[in-house]
Amino acid sequence: MAINNKIAAVLLVVYTVVAAANVAAELQRFDHHPTKPDGSLDIMVVGDWGRRGLYNQSDVAFQMGKMGEKLDVDFIVSTGDNFYDDGLIDDEDPLFVESFSQVYTAASLQKQWYSVLGNHDYRGNVLAQLSPVLTQRDSKWLCLRSFIVNSGIVEFFFVDTTPFQDKYFTDDDHKYDWRGVLPREEYLSNVLKEVEMALEESSATWKIVIGHHTIFSAGHHGNTQELVDQLLPILEAKEVDLYINGHDHCLQHISIPNSQIQFLTSGAGSKAWRGDINEWDTNQMKFYYDGQGFMTLRITEVEINVAFYDVFGKILHEWSTKKYTHMDS
Ligand SMILES: *[C@@H]1O[C@H](CO)[C@@H](O)[C@H](O)[C@H]1NC(C)=O
Repeated sequence: MAINNKIAAVLLVVYTVVAAANVAAELQRFDHHPTKPDGSLDIMVVGDWGRRGLYNQSDVAFQMGKMGEKLDVDFIVSTGDNFYDDGLIDDEDPLFVESFSQVYTAASLQKQWYSVLGNHDYRGNVLAQLSPVLTQRDSKWLCLRSFIVNSGIVEFFFVDTTPFQDKYFTDDDHKYDWRGVLPREEYLSNVLKEVEMALEESSATWKIVIGHHTIFSAGHHGNTQELVDQLLPILEAKEVDLYINGHDHCLQHISIPNSQIQFLTSGAGSKAWRGDINEWDTNQMKFYYDGQGFMTLRITEVEINVAFYDVFGKILHEWSTKKYTHMDS
């Protein structure tokens, strides 16, 4: 009897460990509902920015401040590569204040920021950027690996894309901080499962996925094949509306035939002007700008409006789409 109990206890432990390894945890979820009386949500998206204000980072920030006030933005999204060149050293790193708090100073930008990690962030101390200590230093800061922001009419699914790219694991020129990511296969499979599950369960009118890396891009880095192969099929199947990324230092809008997803790049928060644009079908390339700027989204129950701005606050490109839910018919 005693032996049977021991075996049962051991089996229970083994079962629990196996179950924990196989079942993806649920993504952390934040509720951020619109506060405007008409129920619309206004957000701003910037990427690839932290350079102590240099390379026009301050100019972009200034225009974001002006537009943020005009639109009364609800929150701001960072598509990653938050701190150049090698992320943060630790959670006391002065770069955090010099490249973030002292740059995005406008009153309208003192809203919640939701950030993902880019490949440059992984070159530093990744845990520092994820640390609650940073939020104590500047309350608008929040960076996590993969998470959800639920705004009622729209749900935002933030995906940690850096660990998907094979080349970072064979790159001898740079060191990456893979704490929390290894074993890699298990990590990636969990991210995909979690995102798929969350998309499946979502009842929001609009689904927007945000990651640092491109899926499709005509810019310097081009497409990310790993994401085309592994993430895109899930986004297609779950009828995602927008995929928003940084990584290529440009502003870009691609629309692919037979895909309902719009591919938007906002990675022009500081250093840009690389000039290397790969050839792309002009029917699919709705807009490409290799200078600095940012993007805004205005979302209502029936409509999304996208706009891209340069360092002078000039609108470079606008796009909108409508969706009629069954409630309207
Ligand atoms: C800053 O922006 C202006 C206007 O777009 C551009 O001409 C200039 O080259 C930019 N400077 C840098 C350092 O990128």
